[in-house]
Amino acid sequence: VAPATGFALPLVDAPDDAHPAIAFMLDEAAVDLGVESYRLTVTPSRVTAYASKPAGLFYAAQSLRQLLPPGIEDSSGDVRSGAAVRCCRIDDGPRFVWRGSLLDACRHFWSVEHTKRYIDLLALHKMNILHWHLTEDQGWRIEIAKYPKLTEIGAWRTGEDGSRYGGFYTQEQIRDIVSYAESRGITVVPEIEMPGHSIAALAAYPELSCTGGPFEVRTAWGVSEDLYCAGKEEVFGFLENVLTEVMELFPSRWIHVGGDECPKVRWENCPQCQARQRDEHLADAFELQKYFINRIEKFLASNGRRLIGWDEILESRSSKPGHHAQIDFAEKDGSLRLAPSAIVQSWRGVEGGIAAARKGHHVIMSPVSHCYLDYSVEQITTETVYSYDPVPGELSAEESRHIIGVEGNVWTEGIAEPDRMDFQVFPRLCALSEVAWSEPRTRDWDDFRERLLIHGERLERLGVAYWRDPGVWQPR
Ligand code: ACM
Ligand code: ZN
Repeated sequence: VAPATGFALPLVDAPDDAHPAIAFMLDEAAVDLGVESYRLTVTPSRVTAYASKPAGLFYAAQSLRQLLPPGIEDSSGDVRSGAAVRCCRIDDGPRFVWRGSLLDACRHFWSVEHTKRYIDLLALHKMNILHWHLTEDQGWRIEIAKYPKLTEIGAWRTGEDGSRYGGFYTQEQIRDIVSYAESRGITVVPEIEMPGHSIAALAAYPELSCTGGPFEVRTAWGVSEDLYCAGKEEVFGFLENVLTEVMELFPSRWIHVGGDECPKVRWENCPQCQARQRDEHLADAFELQKYFINRIEKFLASNGRRLIGWDEILESRSSKPGHHAQIDFAEKDGSLRLAPSAIVQSWRGVEGGIAAARKGHHVIMSPVSHCYLDYSVEQITTETVYSYDPVPGELSAEESRHIIGVEGNVWTEGIAEPDRMDFQVFPRLCALSEVAWSEPRTRDWDDFRERLLIHGERLERLGVAYWRDPGVWQPR
């Protein structure tokens, strides 16, 4: 409150009853409210935040911030003479434990400063996961000491006009971002893509592909047919070494390994991949992909981490008669099974998430229909996002418990500037944060819309160049 009000509130260990105070109380017993929950009480003399964990106190502080007028967000002087908060008591906690946003740092590169600002904005909305997409066809963005060419070569792409574009985060910068996020209740979950979306790595180390290359860091968007070879042992050695450094940098219990969009043509024509398929008694290249992911899953598990992958990590070629060319989530007898502790992120719709929940996997929902914040604002309006329920109606109560949460994905093929990112993300992320936090019975679009009008002023004070969704600002 200091920049806005000019009050410097001194920090004291135990505020005495004689003075007004904002008191933050950490108490194990408050766990009865829920792990990330809090109680916020405002009386004429005191504001008290009460929680069992620092995250709860942090969310209480965000709620207090939102009870204060938008002028509290800047130093314009609007609240210099004081600001009031109504007396209240709020018992609050999240519906889902996983409230995330994917930030693609590969298609376009975001500075440490911008990334921290993004973290601040996630934290304001009580989100708790930054899913950081760090490797791609178009750029490798994380320094790996053992493989310097990943960033010397893989972090830079050359356009048709000869211009270079790129960048990467040093290990020191990554540690800084991880701890910045942690102090705001946010876990940074790194995504290291495999076996596909790996051209930047293959440009640096072409021997890890089926054909041997050469490759250039991609400038075109889309899906490449080249990927890591599933037959060569050195590929697994490389990935385990990379993941070892990744685990040293990221305390997250979860490591995302991608797994989406892997054409099988290279593997089907590679003698080493075919030898692996025979030796491991795998029926086809889909089974080979499962073998690949299972091996990495075991490696992560042996290090106490859990794998997350996109819904493709579960798919098989259909075994239904007459559906030979199709792929689906049905499991053939004798086909490889992914360890149930692996988490599946459903993006091509919700079918992958439903199938995964029924097989006992935890599931993160981010279907393109509601959660792709890079899609146009005409296609996915704020109300579309707000209407989303991450728990599909067809799941039983038992199966529904596997839906651990939701993510808003910000891919950046079409987002090169911070203002453009603000426009794509806000206010749709505000809607998503309420989807992630609140029970459906407490959600109401008209009520949300009214609150968003005020919240928009807050975002404006924070310098967020948000989209003035006509469905909110000029309703018919
Ligand atoms: C994805 O959007 N390819 C996960
Ligand atoms: Zn191969």
